[in-house]
Parts: sequence; structure tokens; C-alpha cells
Amino acid sequence: MPAFEYKTNSEEETTSLGVLLAQHITPPAVVVLIGKLGAGKTALVKGFVKGLGVAEPEEVSSPTFPLIHEYGKPVRVYHVDLYRLETEEEVAGIGFEELFDRPALVLIEWGERFPNLMPMPRVEIDMEVTGETSRTIRVRTVQ
Ligand SMILES: Nc1ncnc2c1ncn2[C@@H]1O[C@H](COP(=O)(O)OP(=O)(O)OP(=O)(O)O)[C@@H](O)[C@H]1O
Ligand SMILES: [Mg+2]
Repeated sequence: MPAFEYKTNSEEETTSLGVLLAQHITPPAVVVLIGKLGAGKTALVKGFVKGLGVAEPEEVSSPTFPLIHEYGKPVRVYHVDLYRLETEEEVAGIGFEELFDRPALVLIEWGERFPNLMPMPRVEIDMEVTGETSRTIRVRTVQ
């Protein structure tokens, strides 16, 4: 997939973009969501989950505890947040590597903090805050 750039102007638009992207980034796939606090990473995950039909957006919250949320059967979607972890050992300790044992869509927030642990190929989605409600969202494949 070539690189794409989108602009959104509300949380709802970002979630709608997630629904659209879910049609193109289908399991098995790994998506690393990159952007500062409040960029809209979780809002985009809500769209992926809705687009794959595995949960409603309202059911998706930040994976604070546990750090991995699982949706869907037989299409599995994992939503992971590595913000609170400091070392690769801690990431291994939450069963991160086992997520790639079976076909799934794995959506990872703050994965860029652990570049050695991010599988290839993967999709990276950069979310840039350009204003209070505006975001520039860039999608590219890394392989
Ligand atoms: N265009 C937009 N897209 C997404 N969210 C937006 C947009 N404009 C405003 N927002 C607001 O920004 C916040 C995004 O929150 P969200 O939890 O999705 O961010 P996050 O990147 O997952 O943050 P964190 O790193 O804390 O997990 C929400 O409060 C949302 O209403
Ligand atoms: Mg989040």
C-alpha cells in the first residue's frame, strides 16, 4: 500500500477514517499508531473495530488495565497500549509476542517506544495534531 494522507476535523471523522481503513488493512496485520497524548489513536481504533464488525465504538476504551483488549471472534482484534511500560521485558511480560501467533489485527499505541519489538511488515499511522480539532493522519507500510 502506498502512503496516504488524510485530514480530519473531529473525533467522529477520525473514527470514520478507521472504518474506511479497516476495509484495506485486514487481518493478519500489525498497525502502530503514532501520535502524542490526545492525538486520536484510540478514536481511530474505534473505527477499525466498528469496520470489522467486532464491537461498537462505545465499547472501545483505552487499554489501561489490562494493557491489551481483545475483540471479536473469529476475526480477532487486539488493542494494545504500551504507554505505561518502560522495558522490553515488561512488554514481554504482558504476553505481547503471543499476539502474533494467530491471525489477528493488532493495533498498538506507543509501539514506537519499542522499535525492536514491532513486527515487519507493519502499517504505521502518524497522527499529527494541527489544531484543537484538526488532525493530519499519514498511513504507510513498513517492510
Ligand atoms: N480530529 C480529531 N480526531 C480525533 N480526536 C479528536 C479530534 N479532534 C478532537 N479530538 C479529541 O482528541 C481526543 C483524542 O483522544 P484519544 O483517546 O483518541 O487519543 P489518544 O491518541 O488515544 O491518546 P492517549 O495517548 O492518551 O491514549 C478526544 O478527546 C477527542 O474528542
Ligand atoms: Mg489512546
